[in-house]
Amino acid sequence: MIFLLIGVLAVLPHAAVGSIKVAESYWTLKANELVVDEDMDKYGTKVLVPLVCGEAFEGQKIIWKREGREELPFQGNRVFVMVEERQGGTYTCYSTEGNYLNHTLVLVQWRYRKIIKGTPERGYVHCSTNNYSGFFQCFWTWDESRSGKVALIKITRSHTAGNTSCNLDSNAGSITCQDHAFCPYAEEIDHINLTIYFRSNYVIETYYLQFRISDIVRPDMVRFKMKSNILELQYPKSWSTPFSYFPLRFQVKEIRCQKKRICDCSNQRSSNVDLTQEQQWPLKKGVTVCVRAQDGLANSSWGEWNQFKWQKTAQEMHCHKSCCNMEKWMGPCYRTLISDKRSIY
Ligand SMILES: *[C@@H]1O[C@H](CO)[C@@H](O)[C@H](O)[C@H]1NC(C)=O
Ligand SMILES: *[C@@H]1O[C@H](CO)[C@@H](O)[C@H](O)[C@H]1NC(C)=O
Ligand SMILES: *[C@@H]1O[C@H](CO)[C@@H](O)[C@H](O)[C@H]1NC(C)=O
Ligand SMILES: *[C@@H]1O[C@H](CO)[C@@H](O)[C@H](O)[C@H]1NC(C)=O
Ligand SMILES: *[C@@H]1O[C@H](CO)[C@@H](O)[C@H](O)[C@H]1NC(C)=O
Repeated sequence: MIFLLIGVLAVLPHAAVGSIKVAESYWTLKANELVVDEDMDKYGTKVLVPLVCGEAFEGQKIIWKREGREELPFQGNRVFVMVEERQGGTYTCYSTEGNYLNHTLVLVQWRYRKIIKGTPERGYVHCSTNNYSGFFQCFWTWDESRSGKVALIKITRSHTAGNTSCNLDSNAGSITCQDHAFCPYAEEIDHINLTIYFRSNYVIETYYLQFRISDIVRPDMVRFKMKSNILELQYPKSWSTPFSYFPLRFQVKEIRCQKKRICDCSNQRSSNVDLTQEQQWPLKKGVTVCVRAQDGLANSSWGEWNQFKWQKTAQEMHCHKSCCNMEKWMGPCYRTLISDKRSIY
């Protein structure tokens, strides 16, 4: 059916045939890759796309093939190919002697969001970083029913000419980017403009994000150190220094976990959640302390919860260790907790 229609087109190359319109909106994704914006309301299910083999071939007899197969029933440097629904393709042009001259991959951009998972509310692509080094990562989840891949990544700073680059990670579900010119000690005025083009067959979906590093910074897990019965909340190793310039705020909650149940900080409710910048937390026995961190001078995401429980067994162990090595003394011992009656305590 396509061939029949194209046959008609060869006779009437520059006019719309019947109800089939010529695409008004198309753009170049990369060299030799043309994207047509699918607009069903405007064009219906079929649209004509103008292709040119090359300026140098004007007036010559040119032969065209789709996907390297049979010759298409029209000739010339400037032709119209018909895209029906999402059936793009690679159109190659040859001289009458059969020599390759050029090719164009025709793709279709539709308005749906199906190649990767997400919702308008929760978003589709999520970017984050664990410090102010100018490095960040963006993640997404492929829809299993489509064989999606990244067609192109475009990244710029919105105003200044920066030096930003991204690479697709080996898992193909994320990209790692670096703003090489990023200065962590200056106020970040500019946004990063990031556009990712995903492709599945001949379909292109475009995802556009705009953010600052300070919007997406999310500290790694807080580290713990126990000193007598004080829990010291330590900045993640990956966090930017000096800490006085990049302060963190901590959220601390104490929960009691039933035995035999996994202690999950994100699900367990607690009557009070403390917000503090202090790094000392007095420990109580039998209580699990949950701590997470956020950039103290921004309103970006909280990091992941980390938890600390003053374990009886750990305590016993520390006591035993302390017999041999007083430097390893980690806290008070409780005689009643020690099962080993031969202990010297
Ligand atoms: C091949 O086509 C592309 C556009 O798809 C065009 O930019 C390029 O100049 C053409 N090459 C030649 C040799 O004409
Ligand atoms: C970045 O995005 C903003 C807002 O859409 C736009 O005004 C600006 O021109 C973009 N900058 C670049 C370099 O694309
Ligand atoms: C961008 O940064 C990289 C890494 O620092 C460097 O190799 C490259 O020359 C820079 N490019 C420009 C245009 O400044
Ligand atoms: C920032 O985080 C990246 C990725 O985890 C790490 O490679 C880098 O060393 C960190 N920068 C600093 C200053 O810690
Ligand atoms: C910080 O972010 C939270 C949610 O992300 C929002 O509810 C709150 O209003 C924000 N606060 C400020 C001061 O922007």
